[in-house]
Amino acid sequence: ARQKTILDIQKMKAEGERITMLTAYDYPFARLMDQCGIDMILVGDSLGTAVAGHDTTLPVTMDEMIYHAKAVVRAVESAFVVVDMPFMSYQTDVRDARYNAGRLIKEGGAQAVKIEGGCNMAETIAAITAMDIPVVGHIGLTPQSIHRMGGYRVQGRQEEQAKRLLDDARAVEQAGAFAVVLEGIPRKLAAEITRELSIPTIGIGAGVDCDGQVLVIHDILGLCEKYSPKFVKKFADVSGMIRQGIDDYIREVKDGEFPTPDHSFD
Ligand code: KIV
Ligand code: NA
Repeated sequence: ARQKTILDIQKMKAEGERITMLTAYDYPFARLMDQCGIDMILVGDSLGTAVAGHDTTLPVTMDEMIYHAKAVVRAVESAFVVVDMPFMSYQTDVRDARYNAGRLIKEGGAQAVKIEGGCNMAETIAAITAMDIPVVGHIGLTPQSIHRMGGYRVQGRQEEQAKRLLDDARAVEQAGAFAVVLEGIPRKLAAEITRELSIPTIGIGAGVDCDGQVLVIHDILGLCEKYSPKFVKKFADVSGMIRQGIDDYIREVKDGEFPTPDHSFD
């Protein structure tokens, strides 16, 4: 299949087709979801927690994002690939943001970059868009803001906060983002934002009325056993399968059942 473009993604909102997005951080996962026909792949900075074992996404570096992006891009034939801009790669100033967004495209092979923030990032989104790099916004529960939020909590519950989030959504669209992730906000607010905007909204913990859905692949496959937030559904129990396979390997090697002559060279 031909690789999807920004035009395909925007057309899906226009035609009411739900947009599917998952995170991938390496070649095998990206290949599998691409073959399944996923619309968009996000090389998320959630790789910091999902595969690198950090407590937050804050330590993730540009070089790490590029390394994982390259592995994913090598596997992809049809999905649209978005790569996250990590903490400190765009907040410091607009020039840094432009430079680092360019690196994710040029070195990482991304088709678009994602930035956390609303009104406060409008100028940055506009600057990156102006260098012809498509931008996905990300508002609501923004994990890089963990210390401001005081934890991973649903955003926009109070009326004042909800109004600010609607302003953020408008600002992101106005600045030129071609899609926006809505994370951790009440379903009614997400529905209102989705109605208000002409760009697609992609929800995670944002109810049932967004134009698309994104989740972390490790969460939906049951690979992340530490905790499971309410918005995650476990579509498979891969941890159980992996543990079974490893248990069997250990037992067969210990017992001398494996390897057999069939696995040996003459
Ligand atoms: O890094 C990530 O995985 C994300 C999504 C979950 C939206 O930003
Ligand atoms: Na992210």
